[in-house]
Amino acid sequence: MEKTEASKDLSSTKVYDDIKELFQTLPQERNWDGRWLCQYKGFWCPVRCFRPIISSQRHFDARDTDILLASMPKSGTTWLKALIFSIVNRNNYSIDQTPLLTSNPHSLVTFLEFNVYWGNDNPDLESIPSPRMFSTHMPYELLPNTILESKCRVVYICRNPLDQFISHRHFLLENKLEKDAEPLAIDDAFEMFCKGIHPFGPFWDHMIGYWNASLNNSGKVLFLKYEDLKEDIVFSATKIAEFIGFSFSVEEEKLGLIEEISRLCSFDNLKSLEVNKFGNRGVIQNSSYFRKGEVGDWTNYLSPLMAERIEKLIEMKLKGTGLMFNTYSKDS
Ligand code: A3P
Repeated sequence: MEKTEASKDLSSTKVYDDIKELFQTLPQERNWDGRWLCQYKGFWCPVRCFRPIISSQRHFDARDTDILLASMPKSGTTWLKALIFSIVNRNNYSIDQTPLLTSNPHSLVTFLEFNVYWGNDNPDLESIPSPRMFSTHMPYELLPNTILESKCRVVYICRNPLDQFISHRHFLLENKLEKDAEPLAIDDAFEMFCKGIHPFGPFWDHMIGYWNASLNNSGKVLFLKYEDLKEDIVFSATKIAEFIGFSFSVEEEKLGLIEEISRLCSFDNLKSLEVNKFGNRGVIQNSSYFRKGEVGDWTNYLSPLMAERIEKLIEMKLKGTGLMFNTYSKDS
């Protein structure tokens, strides 16, 4: 019964028999907001993007010059898109003419699973000039092989899981993607989060996949934390530019271009733009991508006991990896 219900969530485009068959073998769970998730190779993927994920694995042909932005939802993806788009296109558009002023960052750098392969098994991506930029919430383990085999670069951003959880909670409540479902209370949602049952979770495996990849091949994967960008955006933007092969020249540095791009992409600036105040991307309000943009906002919603539970979980799951989070850091 449940499986039949979940399979309705598969995208409405033609779903090949082998994908349907594979899907029927996967464990399925309802997320707290009512949307179905299926567990594929250890990760809880939203059922609606299961087919696009498989399509991208089968058809995406990476170029060495491609740039892939990867993240868990609500970890700073929008910010990273704005920054990388601006860094790459700084010679094409001046700051006062950039498309970022009239387009949401998600319209400029699109998701493989939510946009590019959403309604199309094999979109024509050949006509896009290099460097192409795409984004994904897919874990490292699910990335199309050509991404791993090519020289294309992957920039990953993650965030203190407590803030990520709260940010996602607000985003899903605001956009109510599953119209008929009554969302579960925050305690139940938190319980699921701690079990790793949330979109693209478990968060620890998602982070560890990219973390290890960045250690094994530092020229391939750049691992970033939202909190580090908040602490020093100019330093982070410089690092990102270098990594993707678009380093700022001494001249550009002297002209203050890194600071200008950082200001352009700042939370306050992007949030104040008409397109991000009033626009939408289908069912999603652009304004919901810009809520508070703070470090430590979780303290307003979660009890110290809940935080302690996550702390212990993080300690246990990340043990020996060298990856750490200061969950108690806060914006000053
Ligand atoms: P909050 O909900 O905590 O405010 P994503 O872009 O991955 O969907 O993540 C969204 C989170 O990043 C939201 O966090 C949002 O406010 C914050 N955010 C969006 N743009 C930002 C920016 N330019 N600078 C800092 N934070 C930003």
